[in-house]
Amino acid sequence: MGTLDGRVAIITGGGRGIGASISRLFAAEGASLVINDLGANTDGTGGDSGPAHDIAEEIRGTGAQAVGNGGDIAEASTGEELVQTAVKEFGKLDIVVNVAGILRDRMIFNLTPEDWDAVVRVHMRGTYTTCRPASAYWREQRNPEGHYRIVNFTSVSGLHGAAGQPNYAAAKMGIVGLTYSLANALGRYGVTANAISPGAATRLTDTVPVERRRPGAGIVDSAEAPLDRSPDNIAPIVEYMASEYSDWLSGRVVHSAGFALALYNNPEPIAEVTSDGPWNFDDLRQKVEATFKPLANGLPLRPGAQPAPTS
Ligand SMILES: NC(=O)c1ccc[n+]([C@@H]2O[C@H](COP(=O)([O-])OP(=O)(O)OC[C@H]3O[C@@H](n4cnc5c(N)ncnc54)[C@H](O)[C@@H]3O)[C@@H](O)[C@H]2O)c1
Repeated sequence: MGTLDGRVAIITGGGRGIGASISRLFAAEGASLVINDLGANTDGTGGDSGPAHDIAEEIRGTGAQAVGNGGDIAEASTGEELVQTAVKEFGKLDIVVNVAGILRDRMIFNLTPEDWDAVVRVHMRGTYTTCRPASAYWREQRNPEGHYRIVNFTSVSGLHGAAGQPNYAAAKMGIVGLTYSLANALGRYGVTANAISPGAATRLTDTVPVERRRPGAGIVDSAEAPLDRSPDNIAPIVEYMASEYSDWLSGRVVHSAGFALALYNNPEPIAEVTSDGPWNFDDLRQKVEATFKPLANGLPLRPGAQPAPTS
């Protein structure tokens, strides 16, 4: 008996890296898969349907069920096609895992509109394109006990604000906001939505200079657990989130690296100041400096963050 027996999953970016580890584990645990991968270069250029079809063939060779799809996940038609394929080939859809991603790292002052758009397009649009038709399908099922699942991929680059990745950081935090929205909107239809922030050695991290790979954050490379950078270490938490055991977990971000998992908190207000009417600048300044400044200065810095140049 597998944890995903009889369940049907779409995995984007499933042909390589973390997505390939998820595809193999899901298949071994009994899921039937629609595996999308454009076979793009790490910067999003090019395309080769090989990775998607190769892994689908490999999985079929183990006796499990898998269909490959080499489409561009940022195209709405690809998302529609994936959902239709799941229903046509396997009779239903239970799980969507949005892994596909690219990088075009530049400091903000060198970031071209093209490099901004390309990264936002694949990550944000490429997460929206599957979630829209999948959620429409789940709403039609009228099955609040469906254990339907969305698992999106974010990054510490966004959660912590990597200085050299403004486009990627923005896209990855956009995915967090989308995940919160999906969790709030879709719970009544039996859907949970969560995000994973992974850390694993793949061709994508090979593009990041060695000195930037470890932002000095305990939570990124836990001191509590052995560090093993295999992408296979990310797949088990995705399996858990995709399983029927995780009904209690929705609208959350979990970091996964090596043999450690970490639960992130919510962004939430920690102090409030008010005015009786339209703000007077001196009143505003007095209140934020009296109330927010000591709190802001006392907050832990995000890993890699520079202290504000305050007096
Ligand atoms: N590896 C890490 O440490 C790390 C850290 C933080 C976040 N992530 C995120 O995890 C996810 C997987 O990354 P990875 O390290 O396995 O990278 P990877 O490059 O090994 O795999 C990404 C896959 O996405 C595919 N892809 C790219 N653009 C696509 C498109 N438009 N349509 C369909 N497929 C497309 C690529 O062909 C590739 O096979 C990404 O979202 C990445 O941003 C990875």
